[in-house]
Amino acid sequence: IIEHKVQTLLSQMTLEEKIGQMTQIDFSVVAAADGQTLDNPVDVAKLENAVLKYHVGSILNTTNTPDYKPPYIEKWRLITQTIRNTAAKTRLKIPIIYGIDAIHGANYTYNATLFPQAINMAASFNPELSFKEGEITAREVKASGLDWNFYPVMDIGRQPLWPRLWETYGEDVYLTSVMGSEYIKGHQGDDFGQPTKAPTCLKHYVGYSYPLNGKDRTPAWIGERALREYFLPSFAAGVKAGAPTVMVNSGEVDGIPGHANYQYLTTILRGELGFKGFTISDWEDIIRLYTRDKVAASPKEAVKIAVLAGVDMSMVPFDFSFYQLLLELAQSGEVPLARIDEAVARILKVKLQSGLFDPPPEPLAVAGNFATADAQAVSRQAAAESVILAKNAGATLPLAKHSSVLVTGPTANLLSVLNGGWTLTWQGDNERLYPQDKQTLLAAIRQKSSGKVSFVGGQAFNDEIDVDAAVAAAAEHDYIILAIGEKPYTETYGNIDSLELDKNQLKLGQALLATGKPVILVYFGGRPRIITELAEQASAVVLGFLPGMEAGPALADILYGDVNPSGKLPITYPRHTNDIVNYDHKPIEKFDVNDYRPLYPFGHGLSYTSFKTSGLHLSKASYAQGETIELAVYVKNTGTRTGKEAVLVYLNDVAASVTRPNKQLKAFKKLELQPGEEQLLNFKLEPEALSFIGLDMKRIIEPGDFKIMVGDEVAQFNLRQN
Ligand code: IFM
Repeated sequence: IIEHKVQTLLSQMTLEEKIGQMTQIDFSVVAAADGQTLDNPVDVAKLENAVLKYHVGSILNTTNTPDYKPPYIEKWRLITQTIRNTAAKTRLKIPIIYGIDAIHGANYTYNATLFPQAINMAASFNPELSFKEGEITAREVKASGLDWNFYPVMDIGRQPLWPRLWETYGEDVYLTSVMGSEYIKGHQGDDFGQPTKAPTCLKHYVGYSYPLNGKDRTPAWIGERALREYFLPSFAAGVKAGAPTVMVNSGEVDGIPGHANYQYLTTILRGELGFKGFTISDWEDIIRLYTRDKVAASPKEAVKIAVLAGVDMSMVPFDFSFYQLLLELAQSGEVPLARIDEAVARILKVKLQSGLFDPPPEPLAVAGNFATADAQAVSRQAAAESVILAKNAGATLPLAKHSSVLVTGPTANLLSVLNGGWTLTWQGDNERLYPQDKQTLLAAIRQKSSGKVSFVGGQAFNDEIDVDAAVAAAAEHDYIILAIGEKPYTETYGNIDSLELDKNQLKLGQALLATGKPVILVYFGGRPRIITELAEQASAVVLGFLPGMEAGPALADILYGDVNPSGKLPITYPRHTNDIVNYDHKPIEKFDVNDYRPLYPFGHGLSYTSFKTSGLHLSKASYAQGETIELAVYVKNTGTRTGKEAVLVYLNDVAASVTRPNKQLKAFKKLELQPGEEQLLNFKLEPEALSFIGLDMKRIIEPGDFKIMVGDEVAQFNLRQN
């Protein structure tokens, strides 16, 4: 039925109407005053110009709202309702699809449910939480009157300098595929046309996350094997999970800008991955083929290259240049009408699937669908399960509630450092806008502790902290909680030249460690900054990364033992700034200088109890090619507290025609065990898990010996030639 409706609409549309559908503008283009602020009402004349004259099919807002006062949700609803009404005045009444970056929740609206960022969701190793995050976010997006979420990020985070590392699910291909797919399933359900569901967008296809120099939007050099082995599979998983839109890589791979890459956008994405939805450019990236990349000699050529490469919708976003240029290209035949029809058909299909044509065009009710206590409890659980206890010498943690603590450090009393970029504003750093009823780490400790809690710190992230005052205060307390890290950022604003921690924080840490009082180091930030010197001397190390709006209480629960930590690292935490080796490294990386000896390895994370895996066994010692590998392992809680444990199953292909990683994650399960309780966990590895990209760049499975590793257990099997 949908296909039929698409064809009927297409047959009625003028060329101008079709090209308008391929155009996405920023909200500021139709706002009454300058700036992307929700206090700007829509300027109806500007909106009508965009929608009735230029037939614009999509609008986005990037939430760069500098002055932003409640009640936000009503403002959003008013804006999108006005847009709906205007679209209803068009000849064919084709609705506008409004896109938003609802990463870690409906972050553009005060008091929305804000989850830990993706790097933390991955650290939870709990796909169910990712599913629930998707479910809740879609509901809150729809309750805001919005239609479409530019999320999840399916890029692989293997370059810690890259400022968007925290937007990824970490360095592992399998973990990213699982967490991202679950998010999509929660967000879209079986049918994203339902009132509480919305379409997702896989981004940033493909290779964006691996710039050689670490800076955002700079060249990646990814050979075909690495592309197929590390960077494509998560997008393939996202397509399989049903994501109907894909956003294009703003950078370049192997000398070809993402927006000009026919092989990636058409041959591979459509031909191999079977993607049927529509692609959208990233911000202003089509024109950049001319202004920046110089692969086009004119703006018009830039449009032609991008559209012919396979970009279906342009996030222009500030004018109607794309519309005008594409119209000329279509009229002159330089871009075939069949290509325009193809792009528009894909866009209309997603609009129809999203239920945008269905009456009534009313957004979902706010009550019961926005910022509910249940939703916030899920975020708090996700925060608690995503925090990593990296070190706990002499069982320093958990703290007794009556102990006296000095809390200090630049990230101890800010909400922005818990949330990161894309929170209320693009950079997420406007502390003033954060909800007053949420708790910082300090506030949550004050509430939880029955002992003396003192604070020495500044008001803002960059305030230099009085080291002498902190040292003097330390003498009067049993423990020091030192909260360090980074302030929020995203995209190019987050570019750095080194992973070294800021000098002032090191100075403060060294002075506090010299007091001899036990120091509990807590780190918040979007990528691993080098903390080796402090971590080695600290009594305990807690890696918080970006645990979200409910993180203050969640962390206090962990520090005081009301919750047992269970997060594990989804990335390698480097020991030295230039020692960047991913966990699934090659055998050649195993000599002195380059050996994998990070500060904390991928998968590392302690608990207040202890777990033991034993009895790893496979269903057979030898399998035929194409058979499923079945394995089982016992996991026992050998300590004295109830705890959750993520059991990770790794595989190694012992000898192959191309070099294979020492180990690669192939399956995981998280379970809760009471003290002394033991469970047998069963896993199945489908044949695909043994595959790799062969000499001819095709995915193959080679017979031979394989090793399976779970905890300290190793089992071996042989794969026979059929
Ligand atoms: O979705 C984002 C993308 O991740 C980065 N550039 C802007 C887009 C829209 O806000």
